[in-house]
Amino acid sequence: MPTASKENPKHYYRWAFLEFIRRFVQMLLSPRVFSIPGINALKVMILRMFFEIGRNTTIVHGVYFESHHAIKKTLVIGDNVSILKNVFIDFSGGVTIGNEVTISPEALICTHNHIALSRELRSKQNIRYTSLEIGADSWIGSRAIILPNVRKIGQGAIIGAGSVVTQDVDDWEIVIGNPAKKIWERVEFAENTELSIPGRSENQ
Ligand SMILES: CC(C)(COP(=O)(O)OP(=O)(O)OC[C@H]1O[C@@H](n2cnc3c(N)ncnc32)[C@H](O)[C@@H]1OP(=O)(O)O)[C@@H](O)C(=O)NCCC(=O)NCCS
Repeated sequence: MPTASKENPKHYYRWAFLEFIRRFVQMLLSPRVFSIPGINALKVMILRMFFEIGRNTTIVHGVYFESHHAIKKTLVIGDNVSILKNVFIDFSGGVTIGNEVTISPEALICTHNHIALSRELRSKQNIRYTSLEIGADSWIGSRAIILPNVRKIGQGAIIGAGSVVTQDVDDWEIVIGNPAKKIWERVEFAENTELSIPGRSENQ
């Protein structure tokens, strides 16, 4: 992937210019007033200049989407998605968010990592990018952190509040903790049927 290092001035200045415009516009659209439904729709319309965003999607105040060094990587957000206050999404590696996803307040998604194990100065370190796919109908709880090794949050998955996700999460899995581990799976709710959750006793 082309990266915008200073050794490649053409890429660097292109990335820096685009990123400046994107961050500046997001800063203008960041205040709480843009969370009011009608005004939020206007904000989403403006953000569509930079990102692919579906229908009925809500992006409330304090949300930031940023790309670090990488160019040509995109952020795609589906229909009926809710991205709540102060969520931060680094889409340097490319991020796709499926339909009906909720990302709760102050969650952090990171898709680039510095290769920092050697003793090289930070400015000389290589950067590794990972693309992330967040499956439809999944829910990322408040203050969860999704680290750069993660490539997939499965369809219908739930990430508990405050969890630190270091590995892929499969469809319908519910994960919690640091590092996040599977505790059980979402199950079908059938009318008039007792809900039985794997791993939990019936009378809980
Ligand atoms: C993961 C989650 C969905 C589970 O909800 P639940 O099914 O009602 O689970 P319970 O509250 O019965 O908890 C079950 C167990 O998991 C633990 N647990 C639940 N959520 C946890 C979390 N986020 N981190 C660590 N442990 C957690 C509980 O302590 C409990 O442990 P125990 O059985 O040893 O007592 C929920 O706890 C959660 O994190 N929701 C996100 C909330 C949020 O972000 N809200 C913002 C809305 S916009």
